[in-house]
Amino acid sequence: MIMSKEYRIREMNINDHTAVVELWKKTGLSLGLSDTKAEVRRMIEHNPGLCLVLEHLPSNGTIIGAVLGGFDGRRGWVHHLAIDPAFQGKGLGKKMMDELTKRFEARNVVKIKLEVLQNNKDVIAFYQRLGWDLRPELITMSLTLREDVFKED
Ligand SMILES: CC(C)(COP(=O)(O)OP(=O)(O)OC[C@H]1O[C@@H](n2cnc3c(N)ncnc32)[C@H](O)[C@@H]1OP(=O)(O)O)[C@@H](O)C(=O)NCCC(=O)NCCS
Repeated sequence: MIMSKEYRIREMNINDHTAVVELWKKTGLSLGLSDTKAEVRRMIEHNPGLCLVLEHLPSNGTIIGAVLGGFDGRRGWVHHLAIDPAFQGKGLGKKMMDELTKRFEARNVVKIKLEVLQNNKDVIAFYQRLGWDLRPELITMSLTLREDVFKED
């Protein structure tokens, strides 16, 4: 989807993995086993049309934004939204979330959720600006099923 002469949002494919990992690192996201090429491939294949990248067209389509969307059959989930620091504050994160939200709506999804570290105040403020509700009455629990070491591949 072309947004302007400068930016285009398109669906992520696995050949984007290296560039997307670079971007995630640049924005300070902490990466794990779920971010390896094999796992990102699985995420994309499991969620057609919900994993997106943002290209900067004047620099040959360099990837400057990314987000992984997933639908588990009940809730939509948003993971790893990132905009290159050099391009933050221009409305691009909102554009990506608007596009992803539209795609969840097209699938009739009731509610979308995300997790963010409590100390990541900027990201919390960003999502509140987009209309998301804080849910302080909820806590997240998890059980790790695979302990494989994270290797970049
Ligand atoms: C969060 C992030 C994606 C936001 O992207 P962005 O392109 O800079 O945000 P936008 O310019 O689209 O901002 C959209 C709106 O949110 C507001 N906003 C953004 N950051 C904000 C902040 N720290 N405090 C208050 N409002 C904020 C903007 O002012 C804008 O409001 P407006 O529509 O009234 O102008 C980007 O900062 C980022 O990549 N952060 C690092 C990665 C990260 O931690 N991701 C989250 C993983 S859970």
